Amino acid sequence: MGSYQRVMVIGAGQMGSGIVQVAAQAGCNVVMQDIKEEYTERGKRTIATSLSRFVKKGQLSEAESTAILGRITTTTDIGQAETAQIVIEAATEQMAVKKEIFKKLDDIAAQDTLLATNTSSLSVTELAAVTKRPEQVIGMHFMNPVPLMKLVEVIRGLQTSNETFAAIMSFAAELGKTAVAVEDFPGFISNRILMPMINEAVYCLYEGVAEAKAIDEIMKLGMNHPMGPLQLADYIGLDTCLYIMEVLYDGFGDSKYRPCPLLRKYVAAGWLGKKTGRGFYVYES
Ligand code: 3HC
Repeated sequence: MGSYQRVMVIGAGQMGSGIVQVAAQAGCNVVMQDIKEEYTERGKRTIATSLSRFVKKGQLSEAESTAILGRITTTTDIGQAETAQIVIEAATEQMAVKKEIFKKLDDIAAQDTLLATNTSSLSVTELAAVTKRPEQVIGMHFMNPVPLMKLVEVIRGLQTSNETFAAIMSFAAELGKTAVAVEDFPGFISNRILMPMINEAVYCLYEGVAEAKAIDEIMKLGMNHPMGPLQLADYIGLDTCLYIMEVLYDGFGDSKYRPCPLLRKYVAAGWLGKKTGRGFYVYES
């Protein structure tokens, strides 16, 4: 039996639904919350599709898949945080939105409930400071696609207690993930290294050094990356990539993090990658 039986996840998007899935697969009862029912419904469909892929491969039985889905409930009411032992926030990557959520969670949740954020680059320390329990706030940065990726980057805010840190490291292990701890600086480790690589690939395209497909082929075949950087950017979402570059640029004040103008242009056009059907590549619906 894991340490947390009642888990709540705020946000039913790509990351949120993935976190809900792995927690339910680990045996937790999970509440998936989002602001609209259509979002939680879409989240549930994403989970069902992912589970069906595991069933097809014989890694899960139909009965297990049904039981996992049975451990998931959905709501639009953040008030359900009242009974959660741990809440993982995976809402929109905007500090103002996250702060609002953390203030509400701090009011609603029981005193000993831990509050984790799946932020990909924002300050955990700043987020923790809006609560009256900053020592119980921590970053749990999952990777996309959550059901397949082994890593959880655990980010200690300045005020995070050793108890919270230890509890989250074991919880991540219970979810079947490998937790790696880092300190709280912009982009942490994962996105501080990944995003400048993606941004540089966009610069190569912008400067006409090579076409998108060639850039990706070089990184796939030459570096053994599972996806090329532009393909990965489309997969992550170009808006997310741009946003993280802005966080790095603002946070360090160093011109080496300046976002490529072509990345800005694609985002301005609404070419956000796979989710909108067009990014560096065009996708069939
Ligand atoms: N659930 C269950 N199974 C899934 C799945 C999901 N969500 N997504 C893919 N799969 C399965 C497929 O069914 C397939 O199974 P099979 O091999 O038995 O047929 C297998 O995974 C491989 O899928 P595909 O054949 O479609 O494609 P790939 O071989 O390219 O693998 C991938 C997909 C695992 C996503 C691989 O390309 C990969 O590892 N890419 C890099 C991902 C990465 O870098 N993620 C980190 C992004 S950065 C991030 O998340 C941080 C954030 O803050 C921005």
